[in-house]
This record gives sequence, C-alpha cells and structure tokens, in this order.
Amino acid sequence: MHVELVDVDDRNLGAVLAIAVAPQQRRFVGTVSEALADAAAYPHAKPWYRAVYADGEPIGFVMLSWDVEPQPPEIIGPWFLWKLIIDESRQRRGYGAKVVELVADLVRREGASELLTSYVEGDGGPAGFYERLGFEPTGEVDADGEIIVRLPLHQD
Ligand SMILES: CC(C)(COP(=O)(O)OP(=O)(O)OC[C@H]1O[C@@H](n2cnc3c(N)ncnc32)[C@H](O)[C@@H]1OP(=O)(O)O)[C@@H](O)C(=O)NCCC(=O)NCCS
Repeated sequence: MHVELVDVDDRNLGAVLAIAVAPQQRRFVGTVSEALADAAAYPHAKPWYRAVYADGEPIGFVMLSWDVEPQPPEIIGPWFLWKLIIDESRQRRGYGAKVVELVADLVRREGASELLTSYVEGDGGPAGFYERLGFEPTGEVDADGEIIVRLPLHQD
C-alpha cells in the first residue's frame, strides 16, 4: 500500500470533491466541499489540507490547523487534525491509520509535541479509531461540544 498526501489543484479537484463518507457518517465529518469552504472562511485557523492518494488514486482528504495560535474553545492547536475523510468504499483497510502516521511525522518534524483532534460522540463514529491509534483524552471539549483528544509525539 503506497499512501501519499497530494496538493489539491485544478487537475484533481473534481476527483477530490467526489470522495465521500457514508450518508450515516456525515454527521461526524461532512463533505470535502464543506471542508474547503471552511478552509476559505477561517484563514485565521491556518488550514492546511491535502488529498490522500493510495496507489495513485484519490481516496481521502485530510485537513489540519497548522501551527495555529490556540484560542479555545473555538481554535484548538497548535497542531490540530481538523478533518479526516476516507471514502466509504476504501474504509477499514488501514488508510486512515496511515494518514494519521504521515501527518504525525510531518508535524513532529516541525517541532510538535502533540497532535490534537476532536470528534463527535455516537454509534458508528470515529472515537474507537482514534483510541486505537493512541489518542488519549484531554478532558476538554471544543465550542461545539466535540471531545478533544491528543496523540503525544516524541521528539528523538
Ligand atoms: C474514521 C476513518 C477516518 C477511519 O479510517 P479507516 O481507513 O476506515 O480506518 P483504518 O482502516 O485505518 O483503521 C485503523 C484501526 O482503527 C479501527 N477503526 C476504524 N474505524 C473505526 C471506528 N469507526 N470505530 C472503531 N474502530 C475503528 C480499525 O479496525 C483499525 O484497527 P486495527 O488496526 O485493530 O485493525 C474513516 O472511517 C472515515 O472517514 N470515517 C467517516 C468520517 C469520520 O468520522 N472522520 C473522522 C472525524 S473528523
């Protein structure tokens, strides 16, 4: 499995917008188009996003707040995994875990000591995914009541 994070541009935008979670998962993350609209609407949240390619095909989307000044509960940071979407047809094959590993390596190299994220609780939601990857509770919630968790990153 070869997974890469690729810039979103005119050449792949259509394919990236077609990436979608299952309808019953929408309440946990929304669409790529909404994520791109959020990125444009909240530049102060320092959005950084990439398409996820597996073996040359776009299969997912990831967006972070990249080294943002935290202003809780609205802006969580400095390193915050804002959106992670793996296409419904490609879930449960290890891609989500690989993306988190790639992103964690990138931000660790920038000096991050932890990667934060937040999630909506509920059946079929991503809580178990983040727990499986080693994210731990911070005890905090964001402005929408989402649970904030952290992945400790060790600088070697
Ligand atoms: C959550 C999501 C990103 C996971 O990606 P994925 O590629 O399906 O997950 P992986 O195959 O890499 O799973 C990694 C591990 O987590 C587990 N896992 C995956 N989804 C899980 C879930 N919803 N609940 C519990 N465990 C889960 C897998 O079983 C696997 O465990 P293993 O290593 O013991 O086999 C993906 O399913 C998705 O896009 N879901 C909808 C949107 C969403 O909720 N996004 C996150 C919130 S921003």
